[in-house]
Amino acid sequence: MKIIKMKKYYYSLICFASLFSSGVSHITDKEYGLMPEVFKVDNYDTCMLLEEKAFYCEINVKLAPINPENPPKLWKIIKEYSSSELHYRHDKLRRHICVPTTCPNVKTYNKTHPDLIKELTQCYNDKYRDQELTGTVEIVDCKTAGPIYKIDTVDWSVAIAFLSYLGLVLVLTALDYFKSSDAESYKVFKESKRGKLLVAFSIINNWKKLRSIPSGPDFERLKPVQGLRVYMSIMVVIVHAILAQVAIPVSNPKFLEDMNDSPDLLSNFPKRAVFILSFHFMMSSWMLITSLLVKHDRNEIIDLKFIIKSIIKRYVRFILTIAVVVGFYATWLRHIPYGPFFSVCEESDKCRKNWWANFLFIQNHYDRYYMCHIITWYLSVDMQYYIIGLFLFMIILRKKINIPVTVCFLLIINFIFAFWDHWRHGYSSALSGEPEEIYKVVFNKKAQWHDHFASYHGNAAGYIVGIGFGYVYHKNKDQKIFIGLKKKLAWTILSVCLLGATIVVPQIIDVDATNTLSALWVALTRPLFSLGMGIFVLGLSEGLGGWVKDCLSWSPLYVLGKLSYCVYLCHTVFQTLRIGFMRSPGYISYYTMLDTSASDVLLAFVGALFLSLFFEMPSNELANNMFGTKKIEKKIEKKTN
Ligand SMILES: *[C@@H]1O[C@H](CO)[C@@H](O)[C@H](O)[C@H]1NC(C)=O
Repeated sequence: MKIIKMKKYYYSLICFASLFSSGVSHITDKEYGLMPEVFKVDNYDTCMLLEEKAFYCEINVKLAPINPENPPKLWKIIKEYSSSELHYRHDKLRRHICVPTTCPNVKTYNKTHPDLIKELTQCYNDKYRDQELTGTVEIVDCKTAGPIYKIDTVDWSVAIAFLSYLGLVLVLTALDYFKSSDAESYKVFKESKRGKLLVAFSIINNWKKLRSIPSGPDFERLKPVQGLRVYMSIMVVIVHAILAQVAIPVSNPKFLEDMNDSPDLLSNFPKRAVFILSFHFMMSSWMLITSLLVKHDRNEIIDLKFIIKSIIKRYVRFILTIAVVVGFYATWLRHIPYGPFFSVCEESDKCRKNWWANFLFIQNHYDRYYMCHIITWYLSVDMQYYIIGLFLFMIILRKKINIPVTVCFLLIINFIFAFWDHWRHGYSSALSGEPEEIYKVVFNKKAQWHDHFASYHGNAAGYIVGIGFGYVYHKNKDQKIFIGLKKKLAWTILSVCLLGATIVVPQIIDVDATNTLSALWVALTRPLFSLGMGIFVLGLSEGLGGWVKDCLSWSPLYVLGKLSYCVYLCHTVFQTLRIGFMRSPGYISYYTMLDTSASDVLLAFVGALFLSLFFEMPSNELANNMFGTKKIEKKIEKKTN
């Protein structure tokens, strides 16, 4: 953690430095100011008041000189500045217009009618005639007064199911409350089958459980992991908050362009940051293998029946919360009265079509460019790893295969495959920071993001490394590895260097100098990061780390850590809603980034608290009750959570 803190300090230094640097654009500020604005958004609400004349369109206007032989000076400026992919295309104007006021000559209020394009093109030709430019219009979408979608039976069914469930939980909570007034009989009741079921849904009980912090040596060893989990989740929310801020029309596009002209650590990090999720994958296999090894030590068999039971249990645990979020996306999300950026409704259309892929945890393989609730790729990949992991361990434990050798073997195979896959596509090692790719998150619609960031093989390194660490952790549960000054020093240096390398190396070396080099770096980043994280956690579990460990083991973090799954699941809902409710282009600055990130983190935790109390904890308890889980397993499950 020390290094991360230090890096934050470094970030802020760079932050300040870039505030005062002017960037390396080739045109003067005055020339920049003369170019037509990239984004312009008319007042949406007054437009919608025009009743039958209410017609609001999102269009792209492609500029060109009227006389290409002798283009005006302005056109040369636009051309030159837009030629860099690090800038917005200033010859492609993004307009959200109220047609009757901005283009009063347009008579056709029908978005599919060919006349509309002609009339709008005429309108923009008139506007730019003085500047000797013409515009070709492309319609993205148009909206008249009134809602875009009608509320249908699916919407009503989801709403009724949701509200009935909430009602049920509240009734059961009240019942639990009255039952608990008689302490003696309540104790007996709680142990009965019916009692268990009731208590599982009781908010009072779940609230108590959420706040409880277990004790015992096994628990203490891995307590810092919960803290790490919380910080990692917050980091994910922040990256998405900032992304959501630059993926929409902005009033100061120059901010992003200048940032691209003089890239720094701060702007580079989000383009590569997906490797931090390796930590979660690593912990997930770490916990799984320790629990299986404990089971194995107790001579319990790990057979097909056990595997199927485990998979069903995990499915039951997750499916309810996923159903809530996906159900909301597929139905009521699109009925919220949005502003000019109503294209966020596309999120809803995706879920309406592909919700079932999320329910089967196959959305990263099926129709991936139209994935519902895109961040859930992580959940599907994790589920797939879990299933494969279970089968793998069954074979390993039965056939007594050497685990370290298996881990090395798998890592090498994965490394070769990740390298080859990246190399053959010729991707860069980072996501593009090009404004045109970030705008409307176009990069999600391209293969690179799916192949490199959200892919199955891309993330496997973390999971494989986790198997190794789980094994080492289990083997050394009664003794320490890092004893003596030398070993402790080695621990510090190793974890700092490995973790630092993943962030610092791309700053020093041009890892994208050649195709081979970038593929090599991509294939290396995740194993390096997971290895660093694993060594770091291993040391923490032995009590190393001093005040860093104390910070991570802070008790409130343990409680927040239990929410991290729901935080991940629900945080983008708030970002989608925010964009939907915006009425004008956003203004980006480091302060607004801080502001948005802080509010998104807070909202995500509040949303997660609701999801957790009402949905996740009951389904977790149900899953445990279903197969009469034993105490020890429960403990381990909790940690996995
Ligand atoms: C809009 O234009 C299309 C294409 O010309 C036509 O088929 C459709 O009927 C029009 N809609 C209305 C409401 O006039």
